[in-house]
Amino acid sequence: MKKNLILLLLLVPFLNVNAQRISIKKGWKLMIGDNPEWSAPGFNDSGWQTADLNRPWEQQGHQNYDGFGWYRTHVVIPSSLKEKAFLKDSLLLNLASVDDNDEVFLNGTLIGKYGGHRGNIKEGHYGPRSYKIASNNPALLWDKDNVIAVRIYDTGGDGGIYGEKFEIHMADIMEGVEYNTSADFSYGDKNMLGKTIKLETKNVYKYAGTLSLKVTDPETGAVILSKTTDNANFTKGSPFSWWFTFNTSQKKSYNIIYTFHDKKTGTEISETETTPYILTPAVGLAPRINGASTFGVRPGHEVLFLIPATGLTPLTYKVAGLPAGLKVDKSKGIITGVVNKAGNYPLTFTVTNRKGTATKKFVLAIGDKIGLTPALGWNSWNAWGLSVNDEKVRTAAREMSERLASHGWSYINIDDGWEADSRDANGKIVTNNKFPDMKGLTDYVHSLGLRMGIYSSPGPRTCGGYLGSYQHDDDDAITYGDWGIDYLKYDWCSYGEIAPNHPDLDDMKKPYLVMRKSLDKASRDILFSYCQYGMGDVWKWGAEAGGNSWRTTGDITDTWSSMSGIGFNQDKAAPYAGPGHFNDPDMLVVGKVGWGPTIHNTRLTFDEQYTHISLWSLLASPLLIGCDMGHVDRFTLNLLTNDEVIAISQDALGKEARQYVKKDDYQIWVKQLSNGRKAIGLFNTSDKYQTISLPKSDAALKGFTKYRDAWRQQNLTAVSGKVAPHGVLLVTVSK
Ligand code: GLA
Repeated sequence: MKKNLILLLLLVPFLNVNAQRISIKKGWKLMIGDNPEWSAPGFNDSGWQTADLNRPWEQQGHQNYDGFGWYRTHVVIPSSLKEKAFLKDSLLLNLASVDDNDEVFLNGTLIGKYGGHRGNIKEGHYGPRSYKIASNNPALLWDKDNVIAVRIYDTGGDGGIYGEKFEIHMADIMEGVEYNTSADFSYGDKNMLGKTIKLETKNVYKYAGTLSLKVTDPETGAVILSKTTDNANFTKGSPFSWWFTFNTSQKKSYNIIYTFHDKKTGTEISETETTPYILTPAVGLAPRINGASTFGVRPGHEVLFLIPATGLTPLTYKVAGLPAGLKVDKSKGIITGVVNKAGNYPLTFTVTNRKGTATKKFVLAIGDKIGLTPALGWNSWNAWGLSVNDEKVRTAAREMSERLASHGWSYINIDDGWEADSRDANGKIVTNNKFPDMKGLTDYVHSLGLRMGIYSSPGPRTCGGYLGSYQHDDDDAITYGDWGIDYLKYDWCSYGEIAPNHPDLDDMKKPYLVMRKSLDKASRDILFSYCQYGMGDVWKWGAEAGGNSWRTTGDITDTWSSMSGIGFNQDKAAPYAGPGHFNDPDMLVVGKVGWGPTIHNTRLTFDEQYTHISLWSLLASPLLIGCDMGHVDRFTLNLLTNDEVIAISQDALGKEARQYVKKDDYQIWVKQLSNGRKAIGLFNTSDKYQTISLPKSDAALKGFTKYRDAWRQQNLTAVSGKVAPHGVLLVTVSK
């Protein structure tokens, strides 16, 4: 008894009772390994290490560890939570993020688990979890010490439970009420913005109350619009919709807060979002040739290159200097054919329309090196996860062809989820029924002048649990070649079960070297993208091991902490990037994302999205759009079609930006560009407006006299500007 009392007293500092929510972020213990006894409430975990829920276990002494681990904590759950709640039926346990899969025990009873699409703890994906526990579940001890034990299985990369919010609260009347803010903003004349939002619920309770909104200027705090509607009534199957418009006087983002107040219960639920603003100037009518100024192909391998050009259609394309074996389609601008002799072939592109003519010098580099500039494309993962199918890929290809290819975008990459469960009788990899005709799909992508990418793992299974390439490297490379694949993302995943427990560098390189050899036997160029989350400082050896790019991190998600945490942490890898081999801090999280069949607007604010694209361009990262290409809104299109920004990514020098200034509330990154120019990103990492400057006297600006704002495509008099919270000023400088 006395012991229990002491225990309870010891636990008090870990309780933070705030507005009916109990934070359970502190007090956790961690043990690597697996033992069913670790779920028992009476188990003595005093010998376990203290866990930090701000970071994965890799950063707590378990570098490169994949597999099982357990977390435990104690918490007193006061019955006042239940008493004060309107609905008293169940309690929610929210774990900010679990990497990758979990089983959660309350006082020894399993109360929830998450595995992959097969429900197996070894196959699944990281993400937030919310588990409901009935108030009368005997495992739940009101007003007493409860032991929460979480069994984790980490499939690869970062592992553990970590993130912002870990809390317990009652599932109240507002649980299951959602603001649907997924409609796009509409842009009217004279800076008018409009939007429809909806209040939705799956509850049968009839909600009736007021919905109000307030739009504020984050720079001045001024209220731009304040509005309330009295009849916000909704219930299951019958949402409440509200259309509103307002005038934004300047090109910047505003904050909106929505608050619904339910009259009967007096409870409220709020939601915030920001408003978009377009920086990329409209495309001109006169022809303009965009994108990289060089492209590499191996001798004897097929050339497929679409000249990216904008302007009033129809456009007519001509190429001077084409070596024998190549031809250009005059109306589509697609160069095809084969060149056998190595060499740098200088070409001149000419594009003409009714409004004029544009020319551009270009180097076709026939030789050993491919992927001379970072790949620009789309990958299915961040949008569709394992629900990707033929139709979604065709949509992506069609939309890329119509809206993005003219700015240099060219890869259509299928991530995990295309593979069958078993190979055919000859050991050949086959597709599942979502992809009835891979060769036909690839032919379609190629017919648009675009290239096709695919995904596999060196292990027996991919991270999503599909068939991997283990012991079939040659077979698969040949199949990819036959299908016409141009890009392979090769994901470590279950190779962890094949490699020794603590793989050394040779063990880490091995599966990639094996596939490298196999790809070299394929009939075409296949860009090779390593995905092993940065293990063994892959940036130091990825190029030598034959990679064209390599992931430097675990998986990204659509939050500021994930995107900025990854993006601003790349300096260590920067010196290793160069033409043909780039660091890959993971794919883009702009537009509509979802990692599965249900899509939502990225949770990044609009300024954070400008930061994301600016930073990834400076980092010379592959730019792989991860959104639903069938619904690219005007803002997202503006992000992806700014030719001066894309030019920073596609610069022929292939250098990656270095972190030049790192302060608590801002950072400056500098990328060397060809012709002695530089690109400079001034990033506001704080949540307040601030002016960020790089003085003319600074060493980085010595000799540079011309400054240009890349997003606005306007000249500047200084490398200085007011930068929005989590926003950026992206500047190119020349002499
Ligand atoms: C891993 C990778 C992701 C994606 C999935 C597919 O998590 O890091 O980018 O490819 O696997 O299952």
